[in-house]
This record gives sequence, C-alpha cells and structure tokens, in this order.
Amino acid sequence: MLFKQQALLRQKLFVLGSLAIGSLLYLVARVGSLDRLQPLCPIDGRFGPHGQDEIPLRALQFKRGLLHEFRKGNATKEQIQLHNLVQQLPKAIIIGVRKGGTRALLEMLNLHPAVVKASQEIHFFDNDENYAKGIEWYRKKMPFSYPHQITIEKSPAYFITEEVPERIYKMNSSIKLLIIVREPTTRAISDYTQVLEGKERKNKTYYKFEKLAIDPNTCEVNTKYKAVRTSIYTKHLERWLKYFPIEQFHIVDGDRLITEPLPELQLVEKFLNLPPRISQYNLYFNATRGFYCLRFNIVFNKCLAGSKGRIHPEVDTSVITKLRKFFHPFNQKFYQITGRTFNWP
Ligand code: A3P
Repeated sequence: MLFKQQALLRQKLFVLGSLAIGSLLYLVARVGSLDRLQPLCPIDGRFGPHGQDEIPLRALQFKRGLLHEFRKGNATKEQIQLHNLVQQLPKAIIIGVRKGGTRALLEMLNLHPAVVKASQEIHFFDNDENYAKGIEWYRKKMPFSYPHQITIEKSPAYFITEEVPERIYKMNSSIKLLIIVREPTTRAISDYTQVLEGKERKNKTYYKFEKLAIDPNTCEVNTKYKAVRTSIYTKHLERWLKYFPIEQFHIVDGDRLITEPLPELQLVEKFLNLPPRISQYNLYFNATRGFYCLRFNIVFNKCLAGSKGRIHPEVDTSVITKLRKFFHPFNQKFYQITGRTFNWP
C-alpha cells in the first residue's frame, strides 16, 4: 500500500516537474523571439503601405509563430488568407558567385525580420526548362511572406549564365543584385573541392587541381577550365552591365563574411534600404566549426551544413602563383568597375 502511494507521488512529481520545465522552456523561447521581434516595429513605411507600428507586438509574435508553419508548408489556405500572406517575386537576388559564400549570405540576411529567403536554389533564369514554365511558376516557388517583407533568392549559376541578365531584366529592371566574391584562386580551389567531393562520393577518380588549372601543352593557365573562368569576375559582370547600371549591384566581400560577417551584412542592409536589425547577437563564432553560426534567439541557433567550409586540398605553390598572376589584371578591372577594392594578390 505504502509502496503504491509512493509510486503515485513520484508520478505526480514527475508530471509537475515536466510541466514546470516545459513552461520554463516556453518562456525562454518567447523571450528569445522577443529579442528578434522588438526591432521589427520601428521599420518605416518603406516596406508597405502600413507602418509596422500598426501591428501590436503580441499579434506580430503570434503571426511570426505561424509564419514558421507557413514556411514549412503546414498552413491551410484559410490561414494564409487570414494572415494576408503572399508569395512575392524576389526584390533582391544573390546571383553568385558559386563558392563565394552565397549560402552563408542568404542565411545571414534571413536573420533580418524584413527578409524572407527562398530556401532552395530555384534555377529559374539559368535553366531553359524552368524558364519555359513562366514567371507564375517562379513566384509559386517563393516562400509565403507578409507584404512588407522582401523575398530573396540565390542561384549562383545566374552570374555566369549567358541568358540570365536579360531574363531578370525582363522580370524587374530595378531589381537589386548581390554578388559575393572571394579571392579568385581560393574560390577556384573551393569550386574544385566541391566537384572532387562529388566524384569521391560516387567512387570515381578525378584529376588533381593542378592538372585542370594548367594547360599541359602551354604550361599556361587553362581558361577552358570552368573553375578558372568563373573566377574572372569582370568578364561576367560586363555582360550584366549591358542590362543593369552598376548602382543596382552590391559586391559582398566573401572572405570578410567568413572572418567578420557583421560589417558586411550591415552594408547589405544599407544597400537594400533595410533598417539595421542584424546585430552581433545574431552571429557567434563556433570554434568547432571554425565559422560564424546564426543565433535567431536564445533557443534557436544554427550553423551551416558541413558541405560549407570544406578542407581544400593542398595545391602546388607555383600553380597558385601562376593563377594569382593570371587573375591580377582582371581583378584590377573588377575593382575599377565596382568601386570596391580587395586585397587580393
Ligand atoms: P569552402 O567550402 O571553400 O570553405 P557557397 O555557399 O557559395 O557554396 O560558398 C561556400 C563557402 O562559404 C565555403 O567555402 C565557406 O568558406 C564560406 N562561408 C562563409 N561563411 C560561412 C559560414 N558562416 N559557415 C560556413 N561556410 C561559410
């Protein structure tokens, strides 16, 4: 009998304890999301017809909670209508450069309460089959957002694909274009590393970087090698400039985004006419990963996937020197056109 009572008491204590821990966790999460929500309110009318201060904070919190569900695709049609959510065409696109840090940039910008990211690379403008499906197909690929928010997508192949500038221009000639670049030789090696990893996964063999980057007949840089061509930033940018003025581009320093992300993000906020909302609180250095990770609130943190930040194979220094010498004049032109100088060798 006594044993039975003790067991019952233990059970009650367990339930009460669980409830207390649950409530505490809930409160912690709420306070955390307040950190992220409070700064949303002073956004001025630039993002829509209604000033943000028209929406009471609690309602906004409630809405943002739901928004998470909408993003996961769990919302019903009625909920979407009730909350006035829309799938908007992007107002800004990260057009490249592959391996420049495009994913990190997108994820970090998504920390901003007025930004909603398209999680997948949509490849609408660079893929003829997708492009043939029309702009409504593209819009339907976008996440649900509030009208005052801006949608951003990233597809790094846009930067190097011939047809893309004209196609984007036809959609929106005043769209804002983000290009994130890294020191061209490092970017080329990163590009190679990604392909190499893909081959290894399929148990295939692959050439050494040196063999691909240097033409064995001439001993010169092999400009037919895609990883080299992609790093000639100025050549690609010149094609874009036939459609868009330079003011519509913002160049992000991908090397600095790795070591010191906040100032780079603040420059992007300015370019996008967003009030500064991303703070040092949202970014913390994770020593195990060796990279900055994202903090949405005191409960939700995330680092980028392991496929970002691979260890590069060692490359012959003479090949690196040759590549750097090769890229040098193109880099100078790139600085000249963009008005942003990098300390690339
Ligand atoms: P490496 O894998 O060569 O290190 P992309 O997203 O365009 O493919 O770019 C990948 C690169 O983003 C990675 O290249 C990595 O260096 C860089 N990067 C920048 N910030 C990062 C972050 N916070 N976490 C992980 N990778 C980051």
